[in-house]
Amino acid sequence: MKTVKQSRRHESAKRTNQPAGKAPAKAAPKTSVKATLKAAPKAAPSPARAEGSIQAIREVFGYLRRYNNQVFVIKIEDALMGLPLFSLLVRDIVLLHQTGIRIVLVPGAKTSIDTMLERYKVKSKAVGGVRLTTAEAMPLVKLGASNISNALLSLLSENEAHGVVGNWVRARAMGVLKGVDYQRTGRVEKINDDLMRGMMDDGLIPIVSNIGWNSVGQDYNLNSSELAVAVAQALRATKLFFVGSQPGIPVVKECPFAESGEIRSGYFSNLDRREGEALLKDFPKALAPAAREQVALALRALEGGVERVHVVSGARDGILLQEVFSSAGQGTMFYQDGYDHIHPAQSADIPEILRIMQPYVDAGVLVQRGPADIARDLEHYTVYKIDDVLHGCGALKPLTDKKGPGAAELLALVVDPAYADRGTGGKIVNYLLQKARKAGLRKVFLLTTQTSDFFLRLGFKEVSVSQLPPARKRSWNPARNSKVLMKTV
Ligand SMILES: CC(C)(COP(=O)(O)OP(=O)(O)OC[C@H]1O[C@@H](n2cnc3c(N)ncnc32)[C@H](O)[C@@H]1OP(=O)(O)O)[C@@H](O)C(=O)NCCC(=O)NCCS
Repeated sequence: MKTVKQSRRHESAKRTNQPAGKAPAKAAPKTSVKATLKAAPKAAPSPARAEGSIQAIREVFGYLRRYNNQVFVIKIEDALMGLPLFSLLVRDIVLLHQTGIRIVLVPGAKTSIDTMLERYKVKSKAVGGVRLTTAEAMPLVKLGASNISNALLSLLSENEAHGVVGNWVRARAMGVLKGVDYQRTGRVEKINDDLMRGMMDDGLIPIVSNIGWNSVGQDYNLNSSELAVAVAQALRATKLFFVGSQPGIPVVKECPFAESGEIRSGYFSNLDRREGEALLKDFPKALAPAAREQVALALRALEGGVERVHVVSGARDGILLQEVFSSAGQGTMFYQDGYDHIHPAQSADIPEILRIMQPYVDAGVLVQRGPADIARDLEHYTVYKIDDVLHGCGALKPLTDKKGPGAAELLALVVDPAYADRGTGGKIVNYLLQKARKAGLRKVFLLTTQTSDFFLRLGFKEVSVSQLPPARKRSWNPARNSKVLMKTV
């Protein structure tokens, strides 16, 4: 039996980070059927692999449709520019742009500015992690920022895309805080989003450097991460990326929502808003200042309406494409609400429901259901979808006895084998239990031949067949000899 901390894992929707190319080391497999299914692509390369690629292609088409004309803001640390893979990163950004996604780039300029200040021997200091920009340093700050924007323009040109740098950011002085005058360090006051939208309508990629101007033309040095959040909010971006040198937010093992896969990889794969807030509030010392700032910025972006915030490493080839076109990303993704992927099933979902059930039907884990069976019970079905791609389903069907529907049966719980071990199954179960509770039901039963351990971990208990409501007891199939599990809600 799992501890409370471990079982909380099943309450939230999760992707699982894995070190690239490595399958997580597991203890004894809990089900040989599942292990067989997961191993199937290796054992039988042709049909299974082809099916996997077809599914991946379908997934990409789903994303292309969804993201067409959406705004993605990409903040890139300038330290990455020296890496050999950087030009590939820019090429991938241009590919995204060419698919119809509206891209805005916010380059960080810290390394470039430090280089300039050092070269011209101008001293710079930081107070509380914020660079204090003197009037003497400001021209070098602008030079550093402009070098980075120009380097990006060159790389975009190499890839036949057109960038544009502009004065879209209204700023004001940070002023004097706790007696410290931050001089030419500024804060973002307003983004001229209409102008930027116009540029994007013309097929250009705006590059927003970390310089802003006040209403009388005074320029200020801005924090580019904060700037990226402000730009993403102003443009109502679907996604905000922080592309840096860290692969994500380092996992805090004591967190109740840290999952086993994440503990293995060392980084959170998903954090919803509630979890991000808990991380800052309940574990104030567990994260390094930079990671804390990153979490705070991501939460600010979510509060401002940005749908997803991704923290990824720019040192990994293809990271952006993977984050955008696959639901199994490599970095840390922040998102709004843990249950935002669960919806009532629609008739258009039936083919996909049948598709994800089929391998388990073939393996004898699930009973065969046809389209008509699902359609008949459709109102009881719930699906788990990310960006319109169905990854799981489950149903909660009221069981009526003489006294009325005091209980329900949880059935048809399936998670696509390609999407296993990300907390989805547990999450669907918890959602259905919550639904039963809201409907005033007292007990939730389920029948299973192979999956009892999974449900025992979620608080179900094995009971005798005689405890089933009479009508369901009559339809219990002795040939199948399913175990009956029950949870009081
Ligand atoms: C059972 C099932 C829904 C789990 O989905 P999932 O999204 O992978 O589950 P989660 O990510 O929430 O949980 C994964 C954990 O459950 C464990 N698990 C998965 N299947 C299990 C099983 N049959 N028995 C015991 N444990 C199981 C995993 O090993 C993993 O353990 P870990 O957290 O220690 O790494 C999925 O494997 C499935 O569709 N199975 C086939 C259909 C089925 O049996 N349905 C139930 C009948 S109603």
